[in-house]
Amino acid sequence: MMVLIRYLRRGPDGISEAQDFEVETRAVTIGSAADRTIQLLGRSVGAQHATIAAVGSKLKLSCARGRRFQLNGKEVRSAALNVGDEILIAGHRLRLINPPAGFDLGVEVQLNAAADASEFEMAFRTDLDQTWLSKRGGAWMLAVLAAALALLLPLRTAILHREGAHVPAGLPDEALWSAGPLIPPHELALGGSNCGACHQEFFVRVQDGACRQCHQPIQDHVVKQDLALAHLGAPQRCAQCHAEHDGDAALSAIRLDGLCLACHAQSKSLFGSLKVQTVSGFASGGAHPAFSVTLQTGREPLAAAQEHSNLKFSHAQHLDASRVSRAGDGGALGCSDCHRLERTGEHFEPITMARDCASCHQLTFDPANPSRELPHGKPLEAMYVIEDYFARRYSGDPKLPPAHPAAAALRRLPDRDAAAAPLDSCSGAAYLCANRRAAAEIENQFAGRGCVSCHTVTEHAAAKDIHDRFEVLPVRLNYEYFSGARFNHRQHAIQKNLLGDEACVSCHSARSSTHSTDVMIPDVDRCLQCHTQRHEKDKVTTQCVSCHTYHPGASPGGLP
Ligand code: HEC
Ligand code: HEC
Ligand code: HEC
Ligand code: HEC
Ligand code: HEC
Ligand code: HEC
Ligand code: HEC
Ligand code: HEC
Ligand code: HEC
Ligand code: HEC
Repeated sequence: MMVLIRYLRRGPDGISEAQDFEVETRAVTIGSAADRTIQLLGRSVGAQHATIAAVGSKLKLSCARGRRFQLNGKEVRSAALNVGDEILIAGHRLRLINPPAGFDLGVEVQLNAAADASEFEMAFRTDLDQTWLSKRGGAWMLAVLAAALALLLPLRTAILHREGAHVPAGLPDEALWSAGPLIPPHELALGGSNCGACHQEFFVRVQDGACRQCHQPIQDHVVKQDLALAHLGAPQRCAQCHAEHDGDAALSAIRLDGLCLACHAQSKSLFGSLKVQTVSGFASGGAHPAFSVTLQTGREPLAAAQEHSNLKFSHAQHLDASRVSRAGDGGALGCSDCHRLERTGEHFEPITMARDCASCHQLTFDPANPSRELPHGKPLEAMYVIEDYFARRYSGDPKLPPAHPAAAALRRLPDRDAAAAPLDSCSGAAYLCANRRAAAEIENQFAGRGCVSCHTVTEHAAAKDIHDRFEVLPVRLNYEYFSGARFNHRQHAIQKNLLGDEACVSCHSARSSTHSTDVMIPDVDRCLQCHTQRHEKDKVTTQCVSCHTYHPGASPGGLP
């Protein structure tokens, strides 16, 4: 049978963690020996203490000779087990939980940190035999009393609650039936006694409709239209994945890889015509397919992806100190000169001309007047500025350089074009000269060495009006490459022994990328150098939900 074993631990900060293991075995063995399915330590635990095995359709727990355990507070040697049962062995608490899809049995184990202290308590246990109650009569009396107090009275209050009627103070209410405290967000939102918010009908399991009344925005994993194309069977109820009455939000969602793999490892047979690659795990050996990236132009396999942002840029050129040096200290540019991490740590602030380029790439357009710049981002306005400027210059505006200067000093930046200078020798009417000069500069900007050195510009040659001839294609810098997975840069600022830019280039081959069409995002094999699904030395254990959310659009990180 497939068994989910979940170890609960409470860290020094009081926050509990759950660690899930999946085991395939014929019988779950429990004992102090190291090869037991569940190893429990302590003086009163036998090497082979007990076994859980399937007998017919039932699960049965039985002890080795001379061993015992407590089932829901009663000392026994063997018993049939049900979900919710609590087993106590030498202070170690085992609880049967609802097995998630694909599992036959779920056991939650809370190890006893101080086995000896509990043995001490056991010695002072009071048996029924030691009291005045006769077993038979007492038991009957108690049963009737318990039924009245614990079932009938609360049931009445519960019905009154649900009907919105007045409830007399002091009556026991349905909280008495509670199977344990709610997870903190529910405890806060619902209070301790509003059982009806979830248990809307008596003796019926919690229905999804109850959860959805409050969790309206939560989305299903598979969108409705796609569900019809696949062969997935009945969808799981919310409560199958979300435990309640544990009092611990960290444990409220089953985050086991087996849950995901139950579908994704069988995608060929289960997913019908849906195009989702098979995933059979996340470990070295290629169980997880190579990544795809989401670009503005659609989703593509990473290995073949090309970006068409319409912005020209070479990382190799700008990171080479012999070609580009930083304004202040003359050193090489670093990644952080242009890429600033956002507060969330996932993405970088979008690149802008004004902040990241303009300090070196001024938009000057008249070599004779290097203090004059074009406005950025507005092609039409830039054209008008050029026309207006030359009209004024050729009509002798005293604030501008004379129209026919000696050879003007040319700036060395690539945006400038020396070929524009000879036009200054124009000898016609001033306004004709100004028009010619402006048209030439517009052409230079959009088809020569100006705006076009950074931008992809489409030329509509047939256009009569020069203002309609050039179209600067929209700049579409990608922001999110993995729309279906998350990644945090802050957690990866240090890569083993690499720091700063050296860490960045261990994932992004920026120093050798000469075109902005390159996609420098690392593929799955890079992640697998450090991450793996199962516990391994020197690796970070990562579950499917470390990177993916189950509910599309759920907040990154999901549950605590
Ligand atoms: C936020 C929703 C929610 C609220 C509020 C809530 N429960 Fe539950 N309860 C659940 C879920 C989910 C289960 C698991 C049952 C299932 O699988 O359908 C459950 C199970 C139970 C069970 C069965 C025990 C078990 O382990 O299967 C009892 C008894 C119970 N609840 C009592 C109560 C009582 C009493 C209250 C009010 C104090 C309450 N519940 C409030 C969601 C809730
Ligand atoms: C009466 C309203 C109500 C009902 C019914 C309800 N919830 Fe909630 N739930 C809340 C509120 C409010 C929060 C806390 C705010 C939040 O995180 O969305 C919450 C939080 C949660 C969280 C934790 C979210 C987090 O980020 O920590 C989960 C999981 C959850 N609910 C699942 C369920 C499930 C499953 C059911 C049905 C069994 C259910 N809820 C029923 C109101 C409700
Ligand atoms: C009931 C079967 C089922 C389960 C369980 C399941 N998935 Fe899926 N998953 C699907 C199907 C079907 C799709 C395709 C979705 C669509 O087309 O709407 C999908 C899509 C995805 C995608 C997006 C693929 C894409 O289109 O880019 C990711 C990522 C994913 N699942 C991860 C997970 C993770 C992680 C879990 C476990 C927490 C999980 N799935 C559990 C059936 C399942
Ligand atoms: C002078 C500014 C500048 C510097 C310095 C710079 N970048 Fe960039 N980076 C850009 C621009 C502009 C883009 C968008 C155009 C593109 O895709 O090439 C970009 C895009 C990227 C992208 C996403 C696009 C892709 O192709 O994958 C990555 C990753 C990246 N840079 C990494 C780096 C790293 C790592 C460094 C340092 C080693 C670095 N950059 C230094 C300007 C810069
Ligand atoms: C462990 C590998 C890794 C390291 C180290 C790393 N990145 Fe990334 N980087 C990624 C991944 C994966 C993405 C895609 C994330 C996404 O889009 O969800 C990415 C995306 C980017 C992008 C694209 C735009 C964006 O905001 O997502 C830029 C720019 C970038 N990284 C720069 C850097 C810089 C600068 C450093 C060093 C400080 C760095 N990266 C370190 C893996 C890494
Ligand atoms: C520190 C100064 C500096 C910064 C900042 C800078 N550049 Fe450059 N860039 C240069 C220099 C210098 C050259 C010429 C290098 C050469 O010829 O080898 C250049 C060349 C270019 C070229 C090639 C032009 C051509 O016609 O060959 C493009 C495109 C470019 N830069 C775009 C950008 C963009 C976009 C940004 C902002 C994201 C940027 N640059 C930021 C200094 C800089
Ligand atoms: C050094 C490189 C560089 C030069 C030269 C340059 N740009 Fe840009 N331009 C950028 C970058 C980077 C962006 C994207 C970020 C931004 O909007 O600042 C951009 C964005 C734009 C946009 C899009 C604005 C938007 O909101 O989508 C237009 C239009 C534009 N530029 C026009 C021009 C014109 C016209 C010129 C010439 C006068 C010019 N650019 C010169 C780098 C440059
Ligand atoms: C050099 C080793 C290294 C590489 C390569 C690496 N990671 Fe990590 N990653 C780590 C470490 C260490 C942590 C834990 C950081 C922490 O706890 O703050 C981590 C944490 C994470 C987390 C958060 C896990 C959680 O449960 O909070 C995600 C998601 C993640 N990495 C994704 C990726 C992806 C995707 C890649 C590949 C693009 C990748 N990592 C490559 C070392 C690495
Ligand atoms: C270290 C992070 C990481 C882990 C762990 C991880 N994935 Fe992924 N997964 C990704 C990234 C990144 C992509 C590609 C990005 C995208 O699809 O948007 C991806 C893509 C997928 C896809 C889409 C496949 C397709 O058709 O292209 C599915 C399905 C998927 N993962 C399921 C899983 C399952 C199931 C697990 C657990 C066994 C898992 N992933 C573990 C990061 C991860
Ligand atoms: C197949 C298992 C599964 C089912 C069924 C399921 N969930 Fe979840 N749920 C998860 C997992 C795993 C997470 C944590 C990862 C994530 O955030 O997507 C989660 C997270 C959540 C969260 C927290 C999301 C956030 O933004 O922080 C809420 C609320 C929630 N589920 C409610 C529901 C409700 C309501 C239903 C029923 C309509 C439901 N879930 C059905 C597995 C499931």
